[in-house]
Amino acid sequence: MQHVTDNQARMKKIYVLLIIASAVIFQYCATTQKASNKSVAVPKVTYVADVQPLLVNNCSPCHFPPKGNKEPLDTYLTAKNEIDETIERIKRNPGEKGFMPAKHPKLSDSTINVFVRWKADGLLEK
Ligand code: HEC
Repeated sequence: MQHVTDNQARMKKIYVLLIIASAVIFQYCATTQKASNKSVAVPKVTYVADVQPLLVNNCSPCHFPPKGNKEPLDTYLTAKNEIDETIERIKRNPGEKGFMPAKHPKLSDSTINVFVRWKADGLLEK
């Protein structure tokens, strides 16, 4: 009888230790999870990943030599040099003078925002 009680007491101690250990491990995981979430930054807008595809889709052929004969927007440098004028013009409304993309519907707000963010992020190439 005494033997059984001793065993039960020992088991109780082990259970308590296990509970404390798992609480500590859980806390540790929860903390590291939070820390790693914080370090996941929003990726910066780049020419190659974000801006170039938009220019190709929306501004060709007019701005893509040799087919287009308007101010070229077919390279990183030309796109970068024209960014202020580009943002200006894509923010205008169809029918307004200088609206771009000419003869097309206005770009969506989220598309326009890619150009705005590209400038804010420092006009990175990639
Ligand atoms: C259908 C042809 C066409 C399309 C598509 C088009 N453009 Fe244009 N773009 C023009 C013409 C024509 C001009 C010259 C007249 C003017 O300045 O408004 C021009 C001029 C511009 C200028 C001024 C260049 C300068 O320095 O004088 C910018 C900037 C521009 N476009 C940006 C864009 C952007 C960005 C797109 C795509 C989102 C686009 N355009 C799509 C025809 C087009």
